[in-house]
Amino acid sequence: MPTRAAASRPLGTITRGTTNPNRLRRMDRWIVATHGAELRRADDPLAVDLGYGAAPWTAVELLHRLRAVAPRARVSGVEIDPVRVAAAGPYARAGLDFRRGGFEVPLPGRPLLIRAANVLRQYDEAEVPGVWRRLCARLAPASAHSRGGLLVEGTCDEIGRRHVWVALGPEGPRTVTFAARLGSLDRPSDLAERLPKALIHRNVPGEPVHAFLRDFDRAWAAAAPYASYGARQRWTRTVRDLTADWPVTDGPARWRQGEVTVRWGALAPRG
Ligand SMILES: C[S@@+](CC[C@H](N)C(=O)[O-])C[C@H]1O[C@@H](n2cnc3c(N)ncnc32)[C@H](O)[C@@H]1O
Repeated sequence: MPTRAAASRPLGTITRGTTNPNRLRRMDRWIVATHGAELRRADDPLAVDLGYGAAPWTAVELLHRLRAVAPRARVSGVEIDPVRVAAAGPYARAGLDFRRGGFEVPLPGRPLLIRAANVLRQYDEAEVPGVWRRLCARLAPASAHSRGGLLVEGTCDEIGRRHVWVALGPEGPRTVTFAARLGSLDRPSDLAERLPKALIHRNVPGEPVHAFLRDFDRAWAAAAPYASYGARQRWTRTVRDLTADWPVTDGPARWRQGEVTVRWGALAPRG
């Protein structure tokens, strides 16, 4: 990541702008379920869609979905490419604006949510910890009544059928979530190609994420008889078995959505 050469130069690099309508629905759904109450309670529920890409669809959709649970939510789309900021201008409306910026997140105040989807995959793995620290430091702090802001950083395929993201609070990484359209999966390790940058190069023997995906595939194979009731039943049974050895933090209501969330510490790279 280039260092700041001048006060006005955003931190980061312009990368490919690939995006698609509805691509981030699984991530939005999870954010609403896990962070909606924080957003609803906040005086100023500000969310940032960092690196929204060549068109601002994901920012427009994020506003719509957050407002369903937190009517005062507002979204700032922050993009490092000035051409993409100009292109998004016509989509601005009450509660939604677009501005040029990078990992410094050039907004007054501390957002309750920063979502960075398909942004860090185009950076080097070694840059991830520094970017995470910088973004976590921009989040609303924890208080007696709040766990503070949430950074959701991850990767998905072009049309959002397979998704993996890390959720971080002001204190650092908390969890990893795997989410899929279950009918599109042959086995859970199909999700490996969508691991976020911090994990994708660690899917090798000896690393925790590799052991997790191996166990996930084994549990999926053992749950094969449940396939006759549908992929959802098979996934739910699989995740229930995984809980014997892995710190799964969610429950059947999320598993039925084709998700599972695991404590970050169990999957974090060694060394
Ligand atoms: C692949 S697109 C992702 C678009 C959208 N988030 C999605 O998932 O569909 C990545 C975008 O991130 C932008 N980007 C890369 N680094 C950035 C940074 N440091 N700050 C803001 N935007 C950044 C790129 O310019 C690009 O438009």
